[in-house]
Amino acid sequence: MENQFKWAVCGLGRISKRFVKVINKLSKNSIVIACVSSSKERAIKYQKKYNIKYALTYKELAESPSLVDAVYVCTNINMHHINVKMFLEKKIPILCEKTFSYDYKTAQEMIETAKNNNTLIMEAMWTKFLPATQYVTEVIKKHNLGKLISFKGNFCAGIGHGPNSRIYKKELCGGSILDLGVYLVHYSLMINGLPNKITTNGKVINGVDRWCNFSFIYDDNVIGHLRSSFKLLEIKEAFIINYENGYIKIPRFFDAKKVIVKTFNQKVIKKFKKVDGFIYEIEHFENLVRNKTLESPVVNYDTTLSVMEILEELNRQLGVTFY
Ligand SMILES: NC(=O)c1ccc[n+]([C@@H]2O[C@H](COP(=O)([O-])OP(=O)(O)OC[C@H]3O[C@@H](n4cnc5c(N)ncnc54)[C@H](OP(=O)(O)O)[C@@H]3O)[C@@H](O)[C@H]2O)c1
Repeated sequence: MENQFKWAVCGLGRISKRFVKVINKLSKNSIVIACVSSSKERAIKYQKKYNIKYALTYKELAESPSLVDAVYVCTNINMHHINVKMFLEKKIPILCEKTFSYDYKTAQEMIETAKNNNTLIMEAMWTKFLPATQYVTEVIKKHNLGKLISFKGNFCAGIGHGPNSRIYKKELCGGSILDLGVYLVHYSLMINGLPNKITTNGKVINGVDRWCNFSFIYDDNVIGHLRSSFKLLEIKEAFIINYENGYIKIPRFFDAKKVIVKTFNQKVIKKFKKVDGFIYEIEHFENLVRNKTLESPVVNYDTTLSVMEILEELNRQLGVTFY
């Protein structure tokens, strides 16, 4: 097909399969043309299973950048900065999985490399692109609900990963803060910007956190209570934003298909299409590349770096450092 957007998927783990499925099922004008792995053997196996044109190592893709329009980097978090720099230096635009990196310094280097090479990179915080999230931002902007009082968000998941998962391993930059807390931090910044103070408590096992309760404290006693955890399965809990004159409730905020806005005399329930939400960030990113835009207005570099700084602080308060 003419003008088809050609993707490479780099890092052939669990999430790469979801990405390939979404492109194959939902995308009108794009294709996964290359699967890229640290293991050529695994790349070939994957190529056969998903019927992909090229099976490559990272080095092979870097040597043939014109094969693709963009790379989706979904390797383990400890590898993002290494993979990303290698492809940015070849001027390949990059959609990089969350969490962008394991600390502020490497994240900053990744963005500097993108800028120095006039090439786009965007953190794949897909929740920000959901129509439900866009609706929440519109409701917040309207200011009809009065003064912000507090908000509360939980993201508790991970039991499905199994005991040997990357999420429990320090060398792969595991922990609930980097795996799940990142969504809560992005959402909180969207609601009320940077906090004045952050407090945490949590449980660390083998060098990474299993759960973390954290609070964001703002001017005028506004407070955000947040919890990331691999321990409890509270995945269906809502994000709730409380205002003087009502609240916004977002069930399964990370994957939201419904938003409830309640005031004293009215309850509005807004429902959204039940499709895999990855498609919205994919379409946004493809448009940026097609229009030669060098920074996403939805997940911009300042936001990614602010989130990274906060995640590093949460880990620091629990005594967790990487490298
Ligand atoms: N946006 C989301 O909803 C979402 C959800 C889950 C994860 N993620 C993010 O995506 C990234 C990867 O997560 P994941 O859950 O896909 O991790 P995973 O399944 O553990 O895969 C991680 C990496 O391990 C390597 N790998 C895969 N199978 C392997 C095998 N049999 N032997 C040795 N190595 C193997 C792959 O890299 P190579 O093929 O290059 O070796 C792969 O990229 C992380 O940054 C994570 O935070 C995002």
